[in-house]
Amino acid sequence: MRDEPLVARILEAVVKAVDIPVTLKIRTGWCAESNNGLTIARLAEASGIQALAVHGRHRQQRYNGQAEYDTIAEIKSRLSIPVFANGDIDSPQKAHDVLRYTQADAVMIGRAAQGNPWIFQQISHYLEHGHELAPPALSERGHVLSEHLGALHEFYGATMGPRIARKHLGWYLDTDKRFDAAQIRELKRQFNALTSPSAQLEWIHKAMADDANERLFAKGSHAA
Ligand SMILES: Cc1cc2nc3c(=O)[nH]c(=O)nc-3n(C[C@H](O)[C@H](O)[C@H](O)COP(=O)(O)O)c2cc1C
Repeated sequence: MRDEPLVARILEAVVKAVDIPVTLKIRTGWCAESNNGLTIARLAEASGIQALAVHGRHRQQRYNGQAEYDTIAEIKSRLSIPVFANGDIDSPQKAHDVLRYTQADAVMIGRAAQGNPWIFQQISHYLEHGHELAPPALSERGHVLSEHLGALHEFYGATMGPRIARKHLGWYLDTDKRFDAAQIRELKRQFNALTSPSAQLEWIHKAMADDANERLFAKGSHAA
């Protein structure tokens, strides 16, 4: 974003090189002194980009501070292509509020989907009906978690798969309302001691049962 002519050259070259629609994601600028998101957005549209997602932080902020939506609103008001608002949208209400404030055509969700892949249907439901969807049933959570971790095991193999699964399991637990903070710490401790795909899947099976609290915290229980 610091070299606008280069951005234009890259976008034009990519758009020219392929037969499919090209979309782009940007931040609001490089730093507080150079919030050139609108300029880049205009270059993108002129280069044939078909839709634009904007993360409401500049590059130097990384993930610090709060996303701001004024720049996204301004970009949306000046462009004809669809604009997606992004940054810190972590609930159906927030999605609703950001859409209203920015008039964006869609929202893009990043971190809030980690451990909560249901957030997309939760947002859609809220936007359509104005009230929250019931949280996923335990059986549904267990099913999705098993499939997800099974796919990680398959993709990354029996050594790396279980290691990578730990952070995902952590995110699922963080959003599981049945457990308090101390229980979540204990569950992560149990799970992180497991090293094989089968032990992890068996543990999930127990954790997602209706009586998980009793089973997992029973005296003398230990990681299988
Ligand atoms: C695991 C992860 C991977 C990401 N990968 C990319 C990426 O490849 N390209 C990109 O432009 N942004 C990437 N992002 C940034 C997000 O698209 C998004 O802009 C940012 O996380 C802010 O949105 P959020 O507050 O909803 O997370 C990634 C974010 C996360 C958490």
